[in-house]
Order: sequence, then C-alpha cells, then structure tokens
Amino acid sequence: AARRGGGVATAAFTPVAPNTADRVTVPRGYRSDVVVKWGDRLFKRSPAFDVDNQTPESAALQFGYNNDYVGVLPRGRNRALLVTNHEYTDENLMFPTGRYDSATIKQIAIQSHGMSVVELQRGSRRGSWTQVRPGSAPLNRRITGTTKFAVVGPAAGDPRLRTSADPKGRTVRGTFGNCAGGTTPWGTVLSGEENFNGYFDKSGSLDARYTRSYARYGLTGSGSRGWGEVDPRFDLSKEPHEPFRFGWIVEVDPSDPRSTPRKQTMLGRFKHEGANVAIARNGRAVAYMGDDERGDYIYKFVSRRTYDGRPGRAARRRNLELLTEGTLYVARFTGDGTGDGVYDGTGEWIRLTSDTTSYVPGMSVADVLIDTRLAADTVSPTKMDRPEDIEPNPVNGKVYCALTNNSNRGTSYPTDEANPLAQSRTRSTLGGPLETKSGNRNGYVLEISPAGGDHSATTFGWDLMLVCGDPDAPETYFAGYPKQQVSPISCPDNVAFDSVGNLWISTDGAQLGSHDGLFRVPVSGSQRGHVQQFLTVPTGAETCGPLITDDGHSVFVAVQHPGETDGATFENPSSTWPGTDDFARPAVVVTYQD
Ligand code: FEO
Ligand code: CA
Ligand code: CA
Ligand code: CA
Repeated sequence: AARRGGGVATAAFTPVAPNTADRVTVPRGYRSDVVVKWGDRLFKRSPAFDVDNQTPESAALQFGYNNDYVGVLPRGRNRALLVTNHEYTDENLMFPTGRYDSATIKQIAIQSHGMSVVELQRGSRRGSWTQVRPGSAPLNRRITGTTKFAVVGPAAGDPRLRTSADPKGRTVRGTFGNCAGGTTPWGTVLSGEENFNGYFDKSGSLDARYTRSYARYGLTGSGSRGWGEVDPRFDLSKEPHEPFRFGWIVEVDPSDPRSTPRKQTMLGRFKHEGANVAIARNGRAVAYMGDDERGDYIYKFVSRRTYDGRPGRAARRRNLELLTEGTLYVARFTGDGTGDGVYDGTGEWIRLTSDTTSYVPGMSVADVLIDTRLAADTVSPTKMDRPEDIEPNPVNGKVYCALTNNSNRGTSYPTDEANPLAQSRTRSTLGGPLETKSGNRNGYVLEISPAGGDHSATTFGWDLMLVCGDPDAPETYFAGYPKQQVSPISCPDNVAFDSVGNLWISTDGAQLGSHDGLFRVPVSGSQRGHVQQFLTVPTGAETCGPLITDDGHSVFVAVQHPGETDGATFENPSSTWPGTDDFARPAVVVTYQD
C-alpha cells in the first residue's frame, strides 16, 4: 500500500504566478517531462509520425489528438498503464494547408479520435515516467472512431439504436467527443461521450419522429465536420438512428487489449462529461455524472448488485456487470437562504428509472435511458452552470463537482442559491482591470455531502466551496480562507484527489488573462480553501485529466489543444509546444520534484 501524505499531497510549494508563457510552468524545485504526444508510435508496426504524410492507417497506430482524460493504473512497482481519451481534432492545426484532400483529412480525423492505452515505466528520477518501447508493450491499444463497441444495459437493441450497418442495435463503431472519465475500483476506465451532436450533418430533411429529441440534444444536422461525406452514418438524413448510439459512458478494460469496449446504456444518454465511481457502504457501485451544457443536470447511478472486492476472475467478471443494472437519479438542489452568508442547502436525488421500472410517466425504461434529458426535464431538477467533472473524495466521502461557467445565468437561466451569480468580474489581459460581465463567468466548485456519508442515500447537503475568480472580485469565495493568500482561479473543469484528500482542479478557458492551469486546495482543516496554483499550460491549451499518484511523487496532466487560438493555423501557429516541431502537439505531461 502506498504511503499516505507524501510528495505534493503535503509538500509546500511556491504557487505559480498567472502567466501567458508558451510552456508548462511548474513551481520552483519541480520539473515536467512529456510522457507521450500526438503521433507517437504505440506499436512495433507503427510508422514514425510525419506531419506531411499522415494517413488514416498510421493515425490508428499512433497516439491520438487532443488528449483529455488521464488514468494511470499501476501494474506492479515499476510499470503502469496510461489510459487517455482523444476528444476531438483541430484540422486547422493538424494539417499543412493544401497538402491533403478533404476526404483524407476526415478519415485521418476519425482515426485520431477515441482512446489510447500506453504502457509506462518509471523513469530515472523519482516520480518520472516514460513510455515503454512500443515493441515491448503488449497492452498498448488504440481505440478510434471505427473501433467496435458492444452496447450493453437495458437500452441495448432498442429499435432507436438500430441502423443499416447494425440491424440489432448492439454494435457501434467508434467513440467521439470523449471528455473526462474515471477509473473504477474493478480496474476499468469510464469515459464520457460529450459533444457528439457536432459530428452529425444532414443532406436532406430530419426524421420528424425525433424532432423533440434532436432539439434537446442540439442535433441540428449542422455539424461542421462534414463526416457524412465520407461515411453516410454521420448524415442524419440517411441514418437517423446513428446519434442515439453516442452520448453514452463507455467502459474500457485496459488490462485486456482484445476486450470489446462497451457503451453502458444504464448510465443514461446526455453530453456526458465523465463518470466516477465510489463503493457505498452497502457495497453498491455509485457513479456520479455531469451533463456539460448550460442549464443541464447532475446525475448519479446506483448499482443493483454489490461490488465484489475479492481477488480472482470470478469477482472481476461480476464487477464488470455492475453498471448494467441499477437506478439512475437526477439532482435537485434547495438553498437554505443567503442570510447565513454562504451558498448552501440540502438536496435530493430523484429517481428516473431502474433497469426494469421507469419512474417517469409515459416513458419506458429505454425511453428514459435514450432521451435522459427529456426524462429529467419532467421532474424539475436544478439547472446547473455546466456540470463538468464530478468525483467522490475517497478520504472524506464528499463529492466535488466543477461548475465551469454560464454566461446566461441571470438572463435565460434565473439564479438560485446553487447557481447564484448573475454577474461576475473577469479581465481580458493579464494585469488589466477587472470588468463586470453578466452571468457566471468564472465558475464554482460544488461540494456535496451524502446523507450519513452514504453514497447510496437519496438526500444530501451541499455548499459552494469555491466561487471562483480573482480574489479581488467581491463575489469570490474560497471556503472562507483569507483571499489575499489564494491564487486566482477561473473555469474549473476537471477534479482529482491526492492521497490525503486535497482537491486538485484543472481549468479550461480561464477568464482572468492567464493561461489555464492546475490548482491544489485542501478541503478540511485550517487550510480549507487555500487555493494554490501548481502549474500553467502553453498558449491556447486547457489543462485536463489531472492525476496525482498515491505516493504523491508524480502529477500527470493532459495538455489539450495547445495553439488553439483565434486565427491560428498550421503555418501561423500561436504555440509550438512542446518544442519538438514547428507546430504544437497535444501531449500528456508528468511533473515531479527535481
Ligand atoms: Fe469537453 Fe465539458 O469539456
Ligand atoms: Ca445559505
Ligand atoms: Ca471538460
Ligand atoms: Ca477526474
């Protein structure tokens, strides 16, 4: 068992100042290495990356684009499996102008999505990690936009999931828009299919049977990718059911490269940010999930069967079925009034359906799971400010959710105590003045306390532990910690915990003039609310998938979309990070003590 409290879990560090450097900036006394980057070889047969000669076949054998989620599963003392997903592609930054025809670009893009499993070994310094040589890494895997997935759970085989290529509705090719994720206690990785609507276009009219559903999911058929031109399943006019096969949580078993990854329909269909599992006291697996859209909801799933913690294949086989049966809930937050000086209150989990019984009048189990947003709309849950990563803290048993922002709060979405800001202060350039804008621009961190500390309970307490922004802005709040001593933080996105239960927060789209970054904040004791910035990422990038190893000696982050700024192109990049080429390459980085 790992020693608790080592490394960055307890070490003091001098916070990184807000900055706009085109690099990964870490505290004095730390260094960071690129572990694996876009295009790196994963197999003996992988060609070396050549930006001028990319092919769909080579992309399928190389590390994909725009790594987001990061899981690190230890294998013995000196090895680990890195599992990442590849959310989306940015063709303007991936391809030299005029070098490729548009069909080839689309095919390469499809293969550059998905997930990667990469074997790692400890490096020469404590806390450092390197990629195992591809020929010696039998567990390496690429899952792409065409990899075969099994659809499982109660909605598998539903007529709405059937297509001309899959008349049984049980086998889907590929995964797209994979955002955050989580590692399960049984050693699998969950990844959320988020903005899947953007992958679909239309050549004619839309199927009138699905008008309401398409509208609720943003399926307008105006996807800008034009993938329908190279594969008709992305054309809603030709294959109206294909979008029902996306928007799920996918589960991958990285220990078996030949296993078929699965789409878990019992966890509902929405713009899944990710899913993180805790085992409740009664043994049930509880998955917390956010639907990342302005005004959408927070969900949880509670399994019917209980987790089997015994070693061996039989237990593992049972655990692999835990997510297929259970109950799906959506959250309602009630404030206790702001007279007490804090945004807090109580809440309830409203059940939507079990695997056998729907609790939504007029909707079947499959209806609720496929059109989860429509089902939830009928029970008046709380419309949240873009619920992103939500994760149980294994040390204190509370649950933490990043609510990134909502520029429309206070206008199209009325405020409530859980989403209280109708205006907030941002700055457009580092050192510039704070300006008041409408809506919640900098986000919150929501803390949920399950009743009796029981993850399977249907009631909870809650509070906004952080109201993010510049500490100089009067609306900000850092759990009561003295504001002069905290780092400015804006647009929390992914969350993680170290071995002592500190919350780590990565940001996306920070609105304070600095690049995005990673922050540590204790959640208990005298340091509760003491937000300190641990690193910043290069120009145009967001910080993703933070992971702190249990020994506290390694901090992994995914640097997603470096160089993605207005007007940037392959020939005129705004970032050339990590400096190996004259263009930017998304990559996973590990930081450790020098
Ligand atoms: Fe892909 Fe919700 O961020
Ligand atoms: Ca209150
Ligand atoms: Ca995210
Ligand atoms: Ca996370």
